[in-house]
Amino acid sequence: MKEVFTSRVLKSTILKNAFIKTATFEGMYKDGIPTQKLIDLHTAMAKGGVGLTTVSYGAVSPDARSFKHQMVINEQSLPQLKRLAESVHQAGGKVSIQLTHCGYFSKNTAVKRPLAPSKVFNEYGCLSGIWFSKAMTKADMAQVAEHFANAAKVLQDIGFDAIELHMGHGYLLSQFLSPWTNKRKDAYGGSLENRVRFPLEVYQKVAEKVGKDFPILVKLNLSDGFKGGFSLADCQYVAKKLENLGCAALVLSGGFTSRTPFYLMRGAIPLRGMIKNGTSLAEKITMALFGPFIIKKYKFTPNFFLEQAKTIRKTVKMPLVYLGGVDSKTGIEKIVAAGFEFIALGRPLIHDPNFLLKLKANEIEKSGCTRCNQCVVEMDRGGVRCVINDK
Ligand SMILES: Cc1cc2nc3c(=O)[nH]c(=O)nc-3n(C[C@H](O)[C@H](O)[C@H](O)COP(=O)(O)O)c2cc1C
Repeated sequence: MKEVFTSRVLKSTILKNAFIKTATFEGMYKDGIPTQKLIDLHTAMAKGGVGLTTVSYGAVSPDARSFKHQMVINEQSLPQLKRLAESVHQAGGKVSIQLTHCGYFSKNTAVKRPLAPSKVFNEYGCLSGIWFSKAMTKADMAQVAEHFANAAKVLQDIGFDAIELHMGHGYLLSQFLSPWTNKRKDAYGGSLENRVRFPLEVYQKVAEKVGKDFPILVKLNLSDGFKGGFSLADCQYVAKKLENLGCAALVLSGGFTSRTPFYLMRGAIPLRGMIKNGTSLAEKITMALFGPFIIKKYKFTPNFFLEQAKTIRKTVKMPLVYLGGVDSKTGIEKIVAAGFEFIALGRPLIHDPNFLLKLKANEIEKSGCTRCNQCVVEMDRGGVRCVINDK
């Protein structure tokens, strides 16, 4: 157990230990600008002992937001992000940010036809009146790649220690990877070699901008979690491609937000809260009537992605970040034994930012998080937090 608390290198960044706070949407923004709460949350993560804390969902352009109040990486948000980075550094930690484009996962009514690899039905945002996506042109692709690269560069310039490109969970780059949403007939669709082309172009454009020593992590699906989606064999292929490009580390996850949203989390479905949070009456009614049938439940088990992730461990030599259901000392020991260099956590750290300090000091063996998943509801109600702590 001791070895996970020793320092390790992620390209030019030295982390004090193996632990990463993974991106969990914080909802701590006012008109898209990070609030002091966001700074406090990531500072608390650094004080609580994570080597690297990841700010979630940095939209690379205004149309990259799934809904309007998300943060865009621009002149308005940068001053607060700079303060956030300084505060995390003062607390002895390092900071990364997840760069994302939602693709067609849009409830953002400012965008009539959200971008996607192909024209598809927007099951995520149809109840907000956004029915279909627009199939991206080559010019759209070039512009989006440019937006990713520019966002990465300005974050590097204001002191961020790493960035994470979101290629998972069904967001734009994942929509390209998935045969379920990529129906293109050109060099960017069809075979896996073609489907990975645009995500790799984005990666390369970002790497050119930030330089080869700056750590770029990639969050990648092990699988979309349903037949006809991106598979574990696809993940092996993409992982090798990213390894060849010099990617700093892969954060392995899974699921497709519009189809299998709880595949990546497991545990309870907080339906009542999700109904209340519906962005329109139609959405609330649909959720109440059909939610129990359309939102699939997945039982939580500790280290729920470990078996799939081990396949990728055998496929590549590059650093890998294990994520999903890490909640105890014994669980962590299994991950280390399986050869993962880094370990990421979400809910145990939302529940208690000092979880790792307590594990290290042998004060506890296990997280108190119950996977009630009410934190998912809270992120749209003024900020992600653990409701168990209210009791
Ligand atoms: C409240 C909440 C918000 C999340 N938001 C994001 C997000 O913005 N980006 C992302 O890639 N994953 C997001 N996730 C998924 C987590 O990164 C992680 O994959 C998942 O919680 C499983 O890890 P855990 O068992 O350690 O919680 C979110 C999870 C939770 C609970």
